[in-house]
Amino acid sequence: MNTKRKILITGGAGFIGSHVVRLFVQKYSNYQVFNLDALTYAGNLENLNDIENAPNYTFIKGDITDENFINELFSTHKFDSVIHLAAESHVDRSITDPLAFVKTNVIGTMVLLNAFKSCWKDNFDGKLFYHISTDEVYGTLGETGLFTESTSYDPNSPYSASKASSDHFVRAYGETYNLPYVISNCSNNYGQNQFPEKLIPLFINNIINNKPLPVYGDGNYTRDWLYVKDHADAIDLIFHEGKQSETYNIGGFNEWKNIDLVKLLCQQMDKKLNRDLGASEKLITFVKDRPGHDLRYAIDASKINKELGWKPSVTFEEGLEKTIDWYLNNENWLNNVTSGTYKSYYQKQYS
Ligand code: NAD
Ligand code: TYD
Repeated sequence: MNTKRKILITGGAGFIGSHVVRLFVQKYSNYQVFNLDALTYAGNLENLNDIENAPNYTFIKGDITDENFINELFSTHKFDSVIHLAAESHVDRSITDPLAFVKTNVIGTMVLLNAFKSCWKDNFDGKLFYHISTDEVYGTLGETGLFTESTSYDPNSPYSASKASSDHFVRAYGETYNLPYVISNCSNNYGQNQFPEKLIPLFINNIINNKPLPVYGDGNYTRDWLYVKDHADAIDLIFHEGKQSETYNIGGFNEWKNIDLVKLLCQQMDKKLNRDLGASEKLITFVKDRPGHDLRYAIDASKINKELGWKPSVTFEEGLEKTIDWYLNNENWLNNVTSGTYKSYYQKQYS
């Protein structure tokens, strides 16, 4: 293992990225960690308050689609590794504005690949481009079966189509230019610092504020949930020990139908808020379904388990409780991100 590394982490001010940045900054004092983020609505430097003055950490504000800026950045810093998380990440937003997803997720990834390639002029010894992706590229499962690393790509939403496209380009650069890469495809994450547009933090915020909980369709859609710090640990392991040119699926071994998850969340919130048991469940409202809604995602994570010894460290009940506690103790964070443009997004999406 290299004892010194200069790593560019993209999207490090977002939900998963901030946990990855913190882990690398705190665990590897011999690495220089650069966090590049455009600070879109989903990026928030408050997520990293505790490490912002660490000597091995630098924040750079910038857009991965800005070719001149990115090329300049690589020629100045000569990053030996990239962990690429920056993306537009919300399916509902991809349905209303698909082009924004092509721009950041596809073109942004291409700009980074090109900059990395020309920086090292095909001399890739000791270098790595680690692309973070999603299980949604595999499309949807029926009632049974699991996504493995060899499941065919079959994306159904503009979000998953843009992520699938970026995965293909990373792999193509590996085949065509010998660019050293690794890809991981992870299931749904939850935990602290997640923007309250995704199911769990949105519903926590609505329960706090006694607002309706908009369950899409009949609520019988299934997702496989993983605690975000367990994802960050998996990324650490794959970055250091993953085999080049390989894909790793990461999942929680933890499938929940949306409606059952929402009921569990309501029960835990009732306890935390000292409400009568059943009070929060009364907020559940079935609303119009998401178009192209994938029925079920579930990951077979046996490869990363067998080859790298990774498995989730917390149960869903424990992780959910930690998550709820964090949101209840971080009211300011929640208020800051749900003011302004968030309100008009919410109005448009759920009116
Ligand atoms: P997020 O939306 O919380 O954060 C994305 C970050 O990228 C934000 O900080 C944003 O400011 C930044 N960003 C967006 N466009 C940018 C641009 N053009 N240039 C530079 N920065 C830009 O997303 P997340 O949930 O943390 O997801 C991170 C990555 O993990 C994404 O690639 C996503 O596809 C993948 N992923 C997410 C999940 C999940 O459940 N959230 C699951 C599997 C994989
Ligand atoms: P989400 O958190 O948006 O993640 P993804 O679409 O990437 O899986 O949604 C998780 C599940 O919850 C998905 O089946 C859609 C559903 N959902 C609702 O029922 N209501 C909502 O308001 C949201 C945001 C999601």
